[in-house]
Amino acid sequence: MSPASTQARAAGPDVETAPAAGKVRILIVDDEPSMREMLRIVLRRDGYDVQLADSGRGALEQLRQSHFDLLLSDIKMPDISGVDVLRAAKEINRDVVAFMMTAYASTSTAVDAMRLGAVDYFTKPFSVDELRLKIRQHLESHRLKQENVLLKKALNTRYEFSNIIGRSEPMLDVFRMVETIAKTTSTVLITGESGTGKDLVARAIHYNSLRRERPFVALNCGGVPETLLESELFGHMRGAFTGADTNKKGLIEVADGGTVFLDEIGEMNTTMQVKLLRVLQDRRFRRLGGTEEVQADIRVIAATNQDLEKLVGSGRFREDLFYRINVIRMHLPPLRERRDDIPLLAEHFLSKYAEQMKKPVRSVAQESLRLLQAYGWPGNVRELENVIERAVALEQTPTVLPHSLPPQIRTAGAAARADVDTAPRTDTDPGSRFPDAGTMLPDLGEGFDLEARGEDFYRHYIALALERAGGVQVKAAEMLGMSFRSFRYYAKKFNIR
Ligand SMILES: Nc1ncnc2c1ncn2[C@@H]1O[C@H](COP(=O)(O)OP(=O)(O)OP(=O)(O)O)[C@@H](O)[C@H]1O
Ligand SMILES: [Mg+2]
Repeated sequence: MSPASTQARAAGPDVETAPAAGKVRILIVDDEPSMREMLRIVLRRDGYDVQLADSGRGALEQLRQSHFDLLLSDIKMPDISGVDVLRAAKEINRDVVAFMMTAYASTSTAVDAMRLGAVDYFTKPFSVDELRLKIRQHLESHRLKQENVLLKKALNTRYEFSNIIGRSEPMLDVFRMVETIAKTTSTVLITGESGTGKDLVARAIHYNSLRRERPFVALNCGGVPETLLESELFGHMRGAFTGADTNKKGLIEVADGGTVFLDEIGEMNTTMQVKLLRVLQDRRFRRLGGTEEVQADIRVIAATNQDLEKLVGSGRFREDLFYRINVIRMHLPPLRERRDDIPLLAEHFLSKYAEQMKKPVRSVAQESLRLLQAYGWPGNVRELENVIERAVALEQTPTVLPHSLPPQIRTAGAAARADVDTAPRTDTDPGSRFPDAGTMLPDLGEGFDLEARGEDFYRHYIALALERAGGVQVKAAEMLGMSFRSFRYYAKKFNIR
């Protein structure tokens, strides 16, 4: 690298001064005064912000000090050549549009310049009109390119990744994590309550990985009878046991080069745990009734909704196997901890089921959304999906109204609301109306989740107090009989501002 460019890099791009608002900034570099002047007049007239440098050194100085969109430089100059100016300009701003001018049509320097990223060069004398046209064309195509980049960026921040929907911070973390993990072949352990999307995430990892062309094979360790699990995983030879009348490949062999998803790994019995441990350690296994060892080229993703550490503590899960699978841990947060995702998910499932059932249900009513957001979702996204599917089936209007939601959801929402509005209610929907505090509290029943209810309660009163205190936190804390510190803790936890 030439000394000139080293200097330029040391100066760095962050010494830019603010460019004239909205105007394209051009730096003209030429040691010939008449040329500089002529170009300045013409290009200013075209509306550009034009700066001049009479030498290569002068140009470097200016490039370091302010931002330029376009560089128009002579190649042959007494101190530093235009090619070096170009190199420095590109180091400072990779996106600068550069044109070169030369009195000596030497193709080799022109080629050098193009290689360094100049878009074109002019041999003196040249037609000024042609130069103006070229400048306009290149700036335009550059602008389009940049717009395209921005557009692509915007598309990438759509709140979807491999069918996983979410916009909450924890879900955006999940997306980022899936992307990173997909590039590795490490074993992954996905934890999270039932219905949080463990299956979906396991598939997303596989289909974003280099193994995507090879099979993704899922095995529910809890769903297969113990006696069958081994032959399911490892396969068997003919005659290995009664009923084994042919050779059969196991899932590990079927998944060769791909991914094996061991769902509900916490349900695996201890004998199988030993066998699985061996595969994970040696990447080799033997079919049931077989004598030869088979190589296993698999990536393992395991999932569980149980607390594996606890199972290890109580001796129901082998500690050594736990460490083997707990290489990369991904935890999927329950839906009640990312309520921002509820409207997005609800809309996603709404269009899915409306299309499937060919029903013209197009949106979720505000009131219904409020109820959905107030509910605790013990069954997480799966439960939300079922609720929306049911609502689409029942709904007779284009909007999902509260009466199409199951009673437990209307109850939770009404409880959270009960004293937000003290104004007389006119609706006659029994599910969202509670005359006294006794009926406000929902009964115990299937899917009851005390923790989620407790959270709803806190969320509700903190928001209410804040509202009544006109946003003054100290006052709200006082109204709640809570220390300011606790108030801050809960407000932050429940994301209430
Ligand atoms: N973020 C999400 N975006 C879209 N759909 C989701 C999301 N999370 C879960 N789902 C859907 O919810 C249902 C349950 O998800 P999934 O089967 O992946 O959950 P799980 O964590 O494996 O549950 P379990 O522990 O009960 O097996 C699926 O139909 C899945 O498509
Ligand atoms: Mg699952």
